[in-house]
Amino acid sequence: MVLGCLHQLMVKMTRKNKILLTRKLHDFALKRLRKKYAIEVHSGKIPMPKNKLIDKIRDKDGLICFPYDVIDKQVIDSAKKLRTICTYSVGYDHIDIKYAKRKKIRICYTPKVLTEATADLAFTLILDLLRRVTEGDRIIRKGGWKEIYGVYDYVGNDLAGKTLGILGLGRIGKAVSKRANAFGVKIIYHNRKRLARKIEISTHSKYESLNGLLRKSDVVSIHVPYTKQTHQLVDMNFLKKMKNTSFLVNTARGNIIKEKDLVSALRKKIIAGVALDVFENEPIGKNHPFTKMQNVVLAPHVGSSTIETRKKMTELTVKNLELALSDKKPIYTV
Ligand code: DGY
Repeated sequence: MVLGCLHQLMVKMTRKNKILLTRKLHDFALKRLRKKYAIEVHSGKIPMPKNKLIDKIRDKDGLICFPYDVIDKQVIDSAKKLRTICTYSVGYDHIDIKYAKRKKIRICYTPKVLTEATADLAFTLILDLLRRVTEGDRIIRKGGWKEIYGVYDYVGNDLAGKTLGILGLGRIGKAVSKRANAFGVKIIYHNRKRLARKIEISTHSKYESLNGLLRKSDVVSIHVPYTKQTHQLVDMNFLKKMKNTSFLVNTARGNIIKEKDLVSALRKKIIAGVALDVFENEPIGKNHPFTKMQNVVLAPHVGSSTIETRKKMTELTVKNLELALSDKKPIYTV
């Protein structure tokens, strides 16, 4: 009896935790994970097909996933041993958090390390829209640059003195405000709840109602998370409240925008232009209506995509997983 228990304990102690990765991480991370765990890395179609995910997760103790992996009730129910889900992202709208918590699964994510990179991208897109950089690039590549340089040719807009409306003055929104301040931009913001006075002072920003923000902004930059409340928040009604000279930038989540309405608003010149890093369905193909429009700047969901940031995200994801599986508090849990 005692020997039996001892044997069971030893088996438990020597059994390596099993980890599923829905995509490859950096080599240094895979090496580190392999030393401690039995890891399985999905290498086929991205995102991992749902039936495969459901099948592979059955015997796993930990999951490392990405924002396009939908971790819903069905996936969680098939994961009989799962103790932690570590997403390689700041967003966790792809995970059924409530259900996972009910099943005592720890959710970890990677905020903070990608704040500056995402703010850089948002600001790059703002400048690109106003100065028509990628539009000019497209014209040149098609052989369309015939004359230099008329007073009305390729004119854009000054950024200095304009009003930037930040929708969601959280971590990334604040990092965008820092950049905007350096460019002499007036900043207004809207959050569900007005922020403390000292934050408004340090960011040089003024609180506005959503309608006020839409009415006054020359550029609206979206930095809210995707939730039930922000689902298709940007619809025709929203867009009609913006000035027809103003621009929209979205580096948050695609489903915050009702794309059909945005396409129609751009065609009807209800707003001047848009820059998007995120879409309702990613990746978008070359036949998407956005690709046919000159006043649209497109990026392939690269908010956090710098060498430095992606490395930090990998380190954090692995650390989160290790801590969660050794029953310690991960660095960032939801
Ligand atoms: C995130 O972290 O949520 C980003 O969208 C990934 O680039």
